[in-house]
Amino acid sequence: MNRKGIILAGGTGTRLWPLTRAVSKQLLPLYDKPMVYYPLSVLMLAGIREILLISTPQDLPLFAKLFGDGKTLGLSLSYAEQPKPGGLAQAYHIGAGFVGTSPSCLILGDNFFYGAELGKLLASAASREKGATIFGYQVADPTAYGVLTFDAKNKVTSIEEKPAQPKSNWANCGLYFYDGRAVEFARTLRPSARGELEITDLSRCYLQDGSLHGERFGRGSAWLDTGTAEGLLQAAQFVQTVQTRTGMLIGSPEEVAFRKGWIDAAQLRALADAIGKNAYAEALRQIAAGS
Ligand code: DAU
Repeated sequence: MNRKGIILAGGTGTRLWPLTRAVSKQLLPLYDKPMVYYPLSVLMLAGIREILLISTPQDLPLFAKLFGDGKTLGLSLSYAEQPKPGGLAQAYHIGAGFVGTSPSCLILGDNFFYGAELGKLLASAASREKGATIFGYQVADPTAYGVLTFDAKNKVTSIEEKPAQPKSNWANCGLYFYDGRAVEFARTLRPSARGELEITDLSRCYLQDGSLHGERFGRGSAWLDTGTAEGLLQAAQFVQTVQTRTGMLIGSPEEVAFRKGWIDAAQLRALADAIGKNAYAEALRQIAAGS
């Protein structure tokens, strides 16, 4: 069964005010692209083509303006409102009709991933039919995140949301692969002390079921924070540094669509032409030309 993708791109963004007072955080620039391009590219790299984007009623039309129905990227994109930020797991209430009993992947619209092993890890998570796969990234201070512990076989042994005394340095990234039971499990959740349906509680349903698999991003990978002005700038500089040095794009849905064979060279050139004359469009033209 086709795995469905959800990008959760709502929230109030108050931590970044005034930057996000008038515009959604996930539409802010990460160097040369809107932030949401990066998680969209991750879903596409995982081979996911049917995607629901969830955002606030005010911001949703802006995302629709950016991507439309997704056809030009070889995708089927749809949109749904989250009237109030009721927690990450609420994505599976809002997206219940879209996901149904299909396997799915939820990614947060402000998460940035990069690394040589990314494609391989995504492919293996996407191919796991039973259970869930979540991802850990080692951070100096994990107290602001879900925190994971693992056994020797990469089974997750514990998952705690923002613990004061973390049992490890492995933060749970905003990328979750669930089997066809996610909607059913999400219906059993109750709001946490902070009044949210916690994604950690949804993952815990799989932990209790004995089917929560963990993958750890290694040293060669980057999972960057975009939650502060400093983090945003650093992530943008990271993209600029790597792109300029290598001449290759990071987080380009147009490129991924082409490399996956979902669009051909002429369609990629048309996307570049619609952008016009700038470095991003030129990079797409070079990819279409076979470099
Ligand atoms: O970034 C990974 C972390 O994301 C995980 O380690 C945690 O386990 C998970 O709970 C979550 O942490 P936060 O609770 O700190 O996430 P935050 O409230 O910052 O929301 C993450 C993004 O999702 C943010 O861009 C806003 C958006 N969002 C958030 C909520 C609560 C929504 O679109 N809707 C929501 O209801």
